[in-house]
Amino acid sequence: MRLLVTGGCGFIGANFLYALRARHPEWRLWNLDKLTYAGNLGNLRPLTAEAGDAYTFVHGDICDRDLVTRLLAEHQIDAVVNFAAESHVDRSIDDPAPFVLTNVLGAQNILDCARRAGVSRVVHVSTDEVYGSLGATGQFHETTPLAPNSPYSASKAGADLIARAYHETYGQDIVVTRCSNNYGPYQFPEKLIPLMYCKALAGEPLPVYGDGRNVRDWIFVDDHCLGIELALLKGRAGAVYNFGGAAEMENIEVVRTILHLTGRDDSLIRFVTDRPGHDRRYAMNFDLAATELGFAPSVTFAQGMARTIAWYQANPDWLSEVQSGAYLTFMESWYKERA
Ligand code: NAD
Ligand code: TYD
Repeated sequence: MRLLVTGGCGFIGANFLYALRARHPEWRLWNLDKLTYAGNLGNLRPLTAEAGDAYTFVHGDICDRDLVTRLLAEHQIDAVVNFAAESHVDRSIDDPAPFVLTNVLGAQNILDCARRAGVSRVVHVSTDEVYGSLGATGQFHETTPLAPNSPYSASKAGADLIARAYHETYGQDIVVTRCSNNYGPYQFPEKLIPLMYCKALAGEPLPVYGDGRNVRDWIFVDDHCLGIELALLKGRAGAVYNFGGAAEMENIEVVRTILHLTGRDDSLIRFVTDRPGHDRRYAMNFDLAATELGFAPSVTFAQGMARTIAWYQANPDWLSEVQSGAYLTFMESWYKERA
């Protein structure tokens, strides 16, 4: 397999590249990444050092038509997995434009270039957030109508619809995956779990939005990566597959788990002004992925959190490297408004 992965210097993309390298050492992997604030070349240092010709990094933008066209042709790419995205809901509230550019137009460019180059399959990595918000009961199915509530989720839903249209119109082989909240090594400390870990470590207040009772389903990143690999190898052209971790939890429970694992107490919890348009509850039904792909999450929340916290504890240099410059500017202004 000659595979182009986009956004491989981010959290899930990096974990995916490591997983593929371990499971398919004979594959050739290319990673196209723009290196935004969330992309970090250091995430792939060991892979770069070890893989030789089997792994190549390309610095560039998924919106760049000439670059993507050249890459696909020059390297005779068989398939593309598109992770590249602006991924943080709060940033999308602060400034939606980059989300539309990368998540909609970039994704469309990838599909278009892949179609023209005759690439056999594109896996487009999407999110459960495209479905909007649930009440106290029920789950998202692949057939649930899309009802995104944030600029981030709206941009992801836009790409999902383009993918659907490209499959229907051109017969292009595209598989869309929608997953719940990931956690694990290399997650950027703007997202709930690594952010709260950093705050707990520093003995600073942990900013919990609203009443802290919003529910997310949490999946350890390795399980999501395996799901995407299964979608790539076994998915039906035109299908959408939900993935989840079968671990629904209120945010406040997640925060308390982090406090417990870092030896801190609940006095650090601060309830702050809620995120506008904050989705109340997500829950995933992934029966289709179980039946058609053999997908099942294998890591419990307790196991995954223990591994995640241990990884952050073992990698303080990684954390200080990514917590600089533009990161600090955004964090300061966003949380000042919510205090
Ligand atoms: P991330 O923000 O950690 O990484 C995104 C990566 O994409 C970075 O390396 C960044 O440099 C790169 N990138 C951004 N814009 C680009 C562009 N225009 N061209 C090339 N590269 C670009 O994101 P993540 O959490 O790893 O998420 C990866 C994908 O998975 C996204 O599509 C996201 O919507 C989806 N997803 C994430 C989660 C989650 O919980 N994190 C859950 C479901 C789906
Ligand atoms: P996040 O990690 O941003 O993922 P998403 O919004 O994509 O689900 O947030 C997860 C949950 O944690 C979400 O309900 C918002 C909440 N949250 C806080 O309470 N405080 C914070 O500082 C952050 C970043 C998130």
